[in-house]
This record gives sequence, structure tokens and C-alpha cells, in this order.
Amino acid sequence: MTNRFWRIDRRPEGTDFASALTLVEAPLAPLAEGEIRIRNSHLSMDAGTRMWLTAREDGYQPPLPLGIAMTGLVLGEVVESRAAGFAPGDLVRAFGQWADVSTVDAVMSGAIVLDPSVADRRAWFGPLGMNGWTALWGVEQTGAAKPGERVLVSAAAGATGILAVQIAKLLGCEAWGIVGGDSKWRYLKHEIGVTGVVDYKGSNPGAQLDVAGGFDVYFDNVGGPLLDQVLTRMNHYGRIAVCGLVADYTSGTRTAPREFDQVLMRRLRIEGFFSPDFMHEGPALTARLRAWHEAGELVMPYDVTRGLKNALTAYAKLFTGANIGKVIVELDT
Ligand SMILES: NC(=O)c1ccc[n+]([C@@H]2O[C@H](COP(=O)([O-])OP(=O)(O)OC[C@H]3O[C@@H](n4cnc5c(N)ncnc54)[C@H](OP(=O)(O)O)[C@@H]3O)[C@@H](O)[C@H]2O)c1
Repeated sequence: MTNRFWRIDRRPEGTDFASALTLVEAPLAPLAEGEIRIRNSHLSMDAGTRMWLTAREDGYQPPLPLGIAMTGLVLGEVVESRAAGFAPGDLVRAFGQWADVSTVDAVMSGAIVLDPSVADRRAWFGPLGMNGWTALWGVEQTGAAKPGERVLVSAAAGATGILAVQIAKLLGCEAWGIVGGDSKWRYLKHEIGVTGVVDYKGSNPGAQLDVAGGFDVYFDNVGGPLLDQVLTRMNHYGRIAVCGLVADYTSGTRTAPREFDQVLMRRLRIEGFFSPDFMHEGPALTARLRAWHEAGELVMPYDVTRGLKNALTAYAKLFTGANIGKVIVELDT
């Protein structure tokens, strides 16, 4: 049996993924002990994976070697198993390959069997997945947001950010978002119901932030020049939870805040956090997220692209800001 997959041939420049990745076909090797085979129904597009495509060795994950399949979170049914606890027909999520079929070591890939009764399985990528865990952890633990505090989230109409603003609200905070563009502004304000939104692509984002007033928590998905704008508008003893630095991922820049002295002047705490560090908390985080999701209090719009061959178009949306909510590739199964 052969399998189509996206092979990494070169390190991409910017968002030119077509020159770097190639859709190829190869026979499937026999399963090794401990491995499972997943027929992927959905691929999760995650901005953080862009860093794995660079050659940098000092990231939180080593670079993906050239010549292998692109790695990312996948969702699908087990079709073959040589791993205890996994049987054909199980719905699973794992770090697999951008492919029709993923072959993974069940332990190393973090594969977990999912409850098939969740009505929309895509939720296992969004509210009930890594984005949900990250948003909840970042707001509550790293950001230490308290009821009544003012929480600002960047890339707030993206998968992680849209959950972070809603979770801030659910925890009794006043939620604000930073987004790029008017349609995202309206979505966040009118559909999600945040207190206020700043459009950083609109006129004078600094003045928009001034109107908003000071913030106690900044859940930052972006870094770059926006971080400077926010540093000068944090309340004293505020917390900055550094979730991601998407402003750097395709430009190759490194965020180096000019306004760093505000950390002392305003007695701020800045702390990065990374979801694999709290993977063991996954079941407890999922239980809380699921209760909110099933009550209709935690929603996620999906930006769905059909077909493995269109994966690169879907992926690029994360870096051009073309998405509202979770970007997913739906495969023909
Ligand atoms: N720490 C962790 O464990 C963890 C886990 C998951 C995700 N993350 C981080 O969360 C962030 C969001 O990831 P995601 O997968 O959920 O993607 P996403 O938010 O769905 O999509 C990325 C969004 O980033 C914004 N963006 C892109 N380039 C930008 C730039 N130069 N300046 C400002 N905004 C820009 C775009 O929205 P606009 O139109 O608003 O610009 C885009 O929609 C990433 O930084 C990622 O690394 C971290």
C-alpha cells in the first residue's frame, strides 16, 4: 500500500512553502513494535510548527530534518496497531505526518484515544486540544489572571487567542483582543463579545490601546513591535504570558523589546510557557474545557481546507492572517 505525504525538501523562506515541501508517494513500511497506523481524517495547522522548519538549534524543539515528512497534530482512526491500548477503529489524536496515513510510535507521538461521542471531532484540535490547553494554562497559570482583571490577548481571532479571550471572560476577567483587520475586529466584538478590540493594522494602534487603558495580563501570541506598544500600557505588577512569537516565525527576526525597562518601572513579570511542559495536566484541563464547550460557552470557528494537496495553502493562512479560528485540513477518507 502506498501513502502520500508532504516531504520537507528545503528550509522555507517566509511563506513560500511550495518551494520547500513536496507532495510525494511512497510505500508504507511494515509496522514496528509499539507503532500504530492512523488514517488521518484531519490535520491541525499550528503556527508554532513553522519554527521546526527552520535550521535553528536553540528553539524549544530541534529542527525537523530535511527529507522526512512534515510533522503535525493529526486526527483519525487507527487502521493497524502493534501498541498496547490501541485497536483498529479507535479515534486518536497524535503528532503524526501531513499524509493520508500516519505511522507513529504510540508513546513518542503522544497518541491518545479520544471519546468518539464528541459531536464535532474537530473540537479535539481546538477547544479540547492543544490550543485549549494552552489558552487555559496561559491565562490562569502563567498570566495568573484574577476575576475583575483586564486581560489583553494578541492574535485574538486565531485558534489559541480566540480561546484565550473566552477563557478570560469565563474566569471573570475583562477580555480585550488585538487583531489584524476589520472582519476580525467585528467577529471578536460582536460574535465573541469581548469588551474591546484593537486593530493593529488599522490607524494608530497605540492610540487605540490608550483608549483601552492599562492591562493586568498580556497573553502574547505575537511578540515583535506590538509587544513594545503593550509594555508601555501594562498596569503595575502586571503579567505577560509569552505564548508565541508569530511576528518572528516567517520573518526570521528575533523579538527584542525596546521598552524592556518597563519590566522594572512597572514591576512586571514576563514568563514563557510551552504546552508539552504541562501535558500531564491534559485530562484535567480537557474536563474543564469540555464542560464549557458543551455548555456553549467556549466556541471555535473552523477554517477548513479540503484535500491533502491543499495543505500548504491552509498553512500559509496562519502567517498572512487569513484565518478566523482554527485552521484545519480535512482529508478524503
Ligand atoms: N506556547 C505554547 O505551548 C503554544 C501552543 C500553541 C500555540 N502557541 C502559539 O500561539 C500563537 C498562535 O498560534 P495558532 O496556531 O493558534 O495560530 P492562529 O492564531 O490561528 O494564527 C496565527 C495568527 O497570528 C497572527 N499573525 C501572523 N503574523 C503576524 C504578525 N507578523 N504580527 C501580528 N500577528 C500576526 C494572524 O492574525 P492577525 O490577522 O490578527 O494578524 C494569524 O491569524 C503562535 O504564536 C503559536 O506559536 C503556543
